[in-house]
Amino acid sequence: MKNLAWLLTTIPLFTACSPAPETDSSVPAAEATAADNSGIQAGVDYHSFSNPAEVTVTHLDLDLTADFAASVLSGSATLTYQKQTAQADTLIVDTRDLNIQSVTANGETLDYQLQPADPELGAALEIDLPERGNKVTIEYATSPQASGVQWLTPSQTAGKEHPFLFTQAQAVHARSFIPLQDSPQVRVTYNATIHTPEALLAVMSAANDPDTERDGEYDFTMPQPVPSYLIALAIGDLQFKPMGERTGVYAEPALLDAAAEEFADTESMLEATEETYGPYGWDRYDLLILPPSFPFGGMENPRLSFITPTVIAGDKSLVSLIAHELAHSWSGNTVTNATWRDLWLNEGFTTYLTYRIMEMIYGHDRYRMEAVLGYQDLQEDIAALPANDQILAIDLRGRNPDDVFSDIPYEKGALFLRELEQKVGRENFDQFLLNYFKHFAFKSITTDEFIAYLNDTLLAEYPDKLDSERIDQWIFKPGIPADAPMPTSDAFSIVDQARQDWLSGEKSATNIDTAQWTVHQWLYFLNNMPEELSDKQLAELDDAFGLTTSSNNEIAHSWLMIAVHNEYQPAYDRLYDYLVSIGRNKLVKPLYRELSKTPQGKAFAQKAFAEAKPGYHPLTIKANEGFVN
Ligand code: BES
Ligand code: ZN
Repeated sequence: MKNLAWLLTTIPLFTACSPAPETDSSVPAAEATAADNSGIQAGVDYHSFSNPAEVTVTHLDLDLTADFAASVLSGSATLTYQKQTAQADTLIVDTRDLNIQSVTANGETLDYQLQPADPELGAALEIDLPERGNKVTIEYATSPQASGVQWLTPSQTAGKEHPFLFTQAQAVHARSFIPLQDSPQVRVTYNATIHTPEALLAVMSAANDPDTERDGEYDFTMPQPVPSYLIALAIGDLQFKPMGERTGVYAEPALLDAAAEEFADTESMLEATEETYGPYGWDRYDLLILPPSFPFGGMENPRLSFITPTVIAGDKSLVSLIAHELAHSWSGNTVTNATWRDLWLNEGFTTYLTYRIMEMIYGHDRYRMEAVLGYQDLQEDIAALPANDQILAIDLRGRNPDDVFSDIPYEKGALFLRELEQKVGRENFDQFLLNYFKHFAFKSITTDEFIAYLNDTLLAEYPDKLDSERIDQWIFKPGIPADAPMPTSDAFSIVDQARQDWLSGEKSATNIDTAQWTVHQWLYFLNNMPEELSDKQLAELDDAFGLTTSSNNEIAHSWLMIAVHNEYQPAYDRLYDYLVSIGRNKLVKPLYRELSKTPQGKAFAQKAFAEAKPGYHPLTIKANEGFVN
């Protein structure tokens, strides 16, 4: 615990909030952004109705009961607040599809107004505050359709015997299961008591005790202040297995051993990251393996990352996901994006750190292969996205952050940091990042605050190596700047050669020597095939390499994309199973999109979607229903 000391001393009592935190004492942030003249107010959270600038919630006490028969969480949220001005008399919190039963303070009923709901952002709950005191209690129940909660029947779990529940709050879904100021610039500490059926275990993004008695009542504390999107709960037939001194895994019994083996390097990753970027500030780091309907690869809930089971490949080939969620403990959870416009501060930094961690643990070759694959994904997105959506500091006004998910904040953000690293030197850049995490620990910052910090530090130190114009180009302009770093990998040259030899007819598929190929080489082999392949060519590949039956979900994805594009029917049974058994959006959405391009494809997609829908997460349904309607 001694590592925590320096972090704790920097925790502010409360975080300054919208509108427009200032980048320095004299210039409002909105004016400080030279490159941005679009009228966006830096630091204003356009995705929350809450009023933290007047009244700031600093602590949450939660008491919830999970009713699996009704798919409802009900109970109370007690919010501790601080008035920022003497006149402040209204607390505004975000809600979405919540059934509000009462609002009380000091045992007395308070007046409140629930405003009409916005379809994307939910409804503001305006509470008339009492003269005295600093706590209000809201009694409420969630809706069975809560956008941030998925209720699974026993048949949708690995064990088939018990139901399962998990929440996913990022970006704007915490409000669908807790009434709170649902903005990443409001940080709260929290305590929670969760009541469950007796056989089940509840875990949260908080201190979890693996040895807790399974009695249907679980208590949690989160002593470090976290933004609302990092509050998370899961309930299921979960068991715990340690992987290292500070790391372990929670999973359904059927998956527990496989998960612990797959992710056995988590402890080394944690140590390596600390070594380079400063102490881990969150005590333990555990993983929770979710059912396959989890809509993301992973979610960096503090102390307990939520992880899709689709990366348990048996050979650690997809564990960069763990490096990624772990890295968020620094970039994202310790230093947090102030608004969703600033998401690249979370995801770009984290993607950069992920590559660094992968290099430290698995070596240069593995990192380079992953970097090339990431770069290719980025190029694809840049080719497909309108210019405004290629900007790191993206304009999200009037849009739901869920609908704008792309590789831009991830890979373009990481590439920008890679360029800074290359210009000032790795050691200097590591020192910069270490200082950055310390300087902004437990704060939520805007892109402009990052730029101001960069100006004061790296730019001031290396004026001959960096220039502001270039930095503005990276952050505020579409595309990738000319002469940006471009990852390459020697290990891919032989794959290019093999593909070439096969396409030209020089070699048959069975004559390609693939015995030593890694998963990443396979992905590169498939992802760079020409768009059009004949049935004969596809059958040859499939016969030689068993692609339709690949148990690696990423390889299967790449292959199924090719199969759909070329209407290769022998893969369609697998495709159907894949769509029905996996809910991870990154894996299924491109398939639905591709299928929707032809009438037969669409009919097939409709059938699969209809069967899958009862098991899909609300976010996966929303992201894909447009392709089948
Ligand atoms: N925090 C994200 C997931 C997220 C981002 C949820 C934005 C909602 C809004 C998580 O850390 C993430 O990036 N997951 C990726 C991991 C991948 C890049 C390794 C995923 O789920 O695919
Ligand atoms: Zn991430």
